[in-house]
Formats: sequence, C-alpha cells, structure tokens
Amino acid sequence: MSDAVLEAVEGDITTQQVDAIVNAANSSLLGGGGVDGAIHAAAGPALLAECRELRQTRYAGGLPVGAAVATGAGNLPATWVIHTVGPNRHAGQTDPGLLASCFRSSLGEAGRVGARTVAFPAISAGIYGWDRHDVAEIAVATTRRALEAGVVPTPDGEVDLSGIELVRFVLFGRSVYDAFQRQLT
Ligand code: APR
Repeated sequence: MSDAVLEAVEGDITTQQVDAIVNAANSSLLGGGGVDGAIHAAAGPALLAECRELRQTRYAGGLPVGAAVATGAGNLPATWVIHTVGPNRHAGQTDPGLLASCFRSSLGEAGRVGARTVAFPAISAGIYGWDRHDVAEIAVATTRRALEAGVVPTPDGEVDLSGIELVRFVLFGRSVYDAFQRQLT
C-alpha cells in the first residue's frame, strides 16, 4: 500500500521544487519545443551536454518511445531530469501501452536514483497530439498502479518505488488541469 501523494497543479514544470522533473522529450534527446525546450532553456547547456553523452554511449540509436533515462538538471531547482519519449499520434503511435510505459519507466528511474518527489507534464498531450483526457486517464491510472505495486520492472531488474512520497502532475492550462483533476478525485 503506497502512501505517496498524487496531485495536479497548473504551472511551469521548470520551476517546480521537486527532486525530479520528467521531460516530454523526443528520441534524439537533443531538445525540441514545448516542455523539452523549456527544460533545456532553464537547465542550461550542461543538460544538453549530458544528453549528447547518452547519445554517444547508452542510447546511440536514440531513446525508444516509452523508455526513460535520468540525467542531472543543470540550473533547474530539481536534482534530476527524467527524459521520456511519448507516443506521437501524428506518427500513428496510438497504443496507450506506450504512453503508460512512459509514466511507469519514469517512476522506475525516479526510484532508481532515489527521488522522493517527482513532477510530470502531460506527456504526448502537446505536439504529439494525444487527447488530454486520454493522457490524464493513462497517467493517473498507471501511476496509481505502479505505486500500489511498490515496484516496477526495468531492463536491469525490479526497482523499488517505496521511497516516492509525492507525484505532482504539472499542467499548462485549465482544460488540461481539469482533465487530470477529474482523474484524481
Ligand atoms: N511546464 C508544464 N507543461 C508544459 C510546459 C511547461 N513549461 N510547456 C508545455 N507544456 C505542456 C503542453 O501544453 C502540453 O500539455 O506539456 C504538454 C506536453 O506538450 P509537449 O511539450 O508538446 O510534449 P509532447 O506532446 O510529448 O511532444 C513532444 O515536442 O517539444 C517537443 O522535443 C519534444 O519532439 C518532442 C515533442
């Protein structure tokens, strides 16, 4: 039984005072627009340098859709940025399991690095074209299920999530916030 708190707020994920913020990245890990652009702009060049290093080593072919990887956070208030790649509806990636994997894998990375508080954006609800209601439903259900289980399976074995105390969904705009709040009540 997890006693982690789940909450939704309207705001900018780059200003969140949490241990880890999740980035809605793309497979290149080399930045983009939306959340990705805002996080890299706020973190500074150290974040891009660390992402480039990942592309030259562990993720030479890019970060797969649904996977997640933690880096430092440069100038951000957070200690870690957890990069994940959401499914792109415009590219025909409509499998909800891929989006669920983003939330589950990101929680696994948070557990692996020892983050106690984690902030998520509405992954795939922007440029990647998913409906905010679908994203909210998948995000909250997957997060609840993973925290209840207390562990997530990862390629390197099971990761314990019992240290996670807070998961905050940080949303741009009232309509996305309402979609998440509806799932949380
Ligand atoms: N804080 C919180 N939420 C934000 C912020 C921010 N600073 N900026 C944007 N958002 C919201 C968007 O309004 C949307 O609801 O985050 C949600 C996700 O939008 P995107 O950032 O467009 O992410 P996604 O839909 O997953 O598309 C990813 O966009 O930025 C590029 O490099 C990224 O190619 C990748 C694609």
